[in-house]
This record gives sequence, structure tokens and C-alpha cells, in this order.
Amino acid sequence: MKPIITLAGLMLALTATVVEAEPIVIKFAHVVAEETPKGKGALLFKRLVEERLPGQVTVEVYPNSTLYGDADELDALSKNEVQLLAPSLAKFEQYTKQVQVFDLPFLFDDLDAVNRFQKRAKGRQLLRSMEKENITGLAYWHNGMKQLSATKALRLPSDANGLAFRIQPSAVLESQFAQVGAPTKKIAFADVFASLQNGTVQGAENPWSNIYSKNMHTVQPYITESNHGVLDYMLVSNTRFWYGIPHSIRTELEGIINEVTYAVNRAAEEANQAHRERIRQAGTSQIIELTAAEREAWREAMRPVWKEFEPVIGADIIKAAQTVNRKQRD
Ligand code: SIN
Repeated sequence: MKPIITLAGLMLALTATVVEAEPIVIKFAHVVAEETPKGKGALLFKRLVEERLPGQVTVEVYPNSTLYGDADELDALSKNEVQLLAPSLAKFEQYTKQVQVFDLPFLFDDLDAVNRFQKRAKGRQLLRSMEKENITGLAYWHNGMKQLSATKALRLPSDANGLAFRIQPSAVLESQFAQVGAPTKKIAFADVFASLQNGTVQGAENPWSNIYSKNMHTVQPYITESNHGVLDYMLVSNTRFWYGIPHSIRTELEGIINEVTYAVNRAAEEANQAHRERIRQAGTSQIIELTAAEREAWREAMRPVWKEFEPVIGADIIKAAQTVNRKQRD
């Protein structure tokens, strides 16, 4: 018997086709400038997605906290009001304590060591550590090692005593500065420049690209090249949204993310060096290079933070992070 195609059936099939043809919209919000490693990564992601999945996926990029900022972006992601974010690793404390390993001062010798940890099993495991909160980590993106900027020259830990520092919302960072007698204020990235300019805080910690792109060097006369910690990102999506994307499209997106991650990570070190040089040429801040002994003094002063946070981060994770330095230390 021949199948009977009714008008209603035909309408339903047409509607389904129309619905299927609607592109998936990915809103990607972040808080930094477009010329930073993350800013460039977001734009490259948009370009590659729209070249390779035309009509299937569109990407809207919102830089500089123009859609969501530090205070509300993760909440918006968990409600699927935004589909991609790349918050700095210090901003996940509310969702997982383990990721705080990245905030421990002087744990990683350099960005290569950070990279090795992120590629190993423990590092990869952290990408899945927030799935019960409906947040899935898709990749790590580098920015760079943090430098200390201030209204006075910081050579030794005692120089920081009594200066107020802006920090990201991380208990580890709060404790890191407490070790050197420095009070802290948790301030959203969008407000850091104004807080330094109007004296709400006298210091901050940032990689070169964030200092330069937000003009912090124009209001901080001293920058100590301390490389005392890392500021990297986790590219995250809403778990239900991400796994709801049709498999073939998601696979293509994952391939693009791998490609963009490679590009961002290669460009990050270069961008930070270039931005350090521009700051030096601007001449508004003195860049202080520490001697090995001075750096060791900062390390010794801040080191108690590791023990303090071991119970919440996990001794196994801290140990795994320590083993990625070329020269392993206690
Ligand atoms: C960012 O790079 O996304 C901002 C980091 C910060 O809040 O310092």
C-alpha cells in the first residue's frame, strides 16, 4: 500500500526543516581587550566557525565586559544566556576548589611548565570538575605569567607591606598577599584601571598584555617582573547546551577549538613580550628586574599558601603540578 502524505504531515515536515535550518547561535563574552591573547582567540574562533559551518553556527563575540562581566558571566553561562566564556582560572572558586591550584604563587616556573600540567591527566581532569554545575571546560588558553605593579618599587616582600592590592575573587590570592602584609580588594576587571587611578588600591597583579591593553602602566609607576603566578583561562560552555549540539557539528567545533587553542597559546608568550616592550618604551613605569635572591625571598614569603590550601585543592593535584617544572623543587 502506498503511503498517504497528508497536508498536515507535509506542513510538519516543512516546519521541522525550517527549524533545523536555524543556525546555532554561540554568544562568546569576555572581559578583556581584542588585542590580547583571549581577545584574538575569540575572534579567530568566530572566523573559523563561520567559514567552516556557514549557515549552521554563528558566533557573536562581546569583548571588554560589554555583555557580561566578572560579576555575572558564569551565572549567565549556567542559565545558557551566553554559551562560551573564557574566565581566568582564578574566577572558578565558587564552582570548584581544585582549579585554585593555578593561583598558588611560585608553583609553576614558567608558561611551558603550566602547559605541561594542563596537558597531563590531572590538568585535563580539572576541565570536567564543574559538570555538576552545568559548566564544561573545553580547553585551557594561555595569557601569561603575572607581574606585580604598584605605586612604589617592590623589590622585597617587605616593600608590599600595607599596600592594598586588587585581586580576582580567589581566596588563594587573598592569602598570597596576606603573607607579605598586604590587604586586598576583590574588584572586577572592568574596574581595575579606575581603582588604580583613583587610589582605591595601590597595586595589582597582571600579565603584561592586560597591563598594557588597559593602560595600567600609565597609573602604576613601578612594575616588578616577578612572574610569581599564572593568569590563564578555561574556555567553558554550558554543559547541556554543548552536548545538545548535533554530534557532527560539535566534532567540527571541537576541532576548531583545538586549532584556536594552539594559535592562542603560541601567540600568548609573544604578545606578552611585545606588550612588555611597549610599556618599557612608553616610559611611564619603571620595570624592576629581580635578582635570583630577591625572587627567592618572595617565593619563601608566599610559599605557606601551598600548605594552607592543600586540603581543599588536593595534595595529588599540587604534587602533579610541581612535577612539571624542569627543576623540581619542594
Ligand atoms: C582576564 O584576563 O580575563 C581578566 C583577568 C583579571 O580579572 O585580572
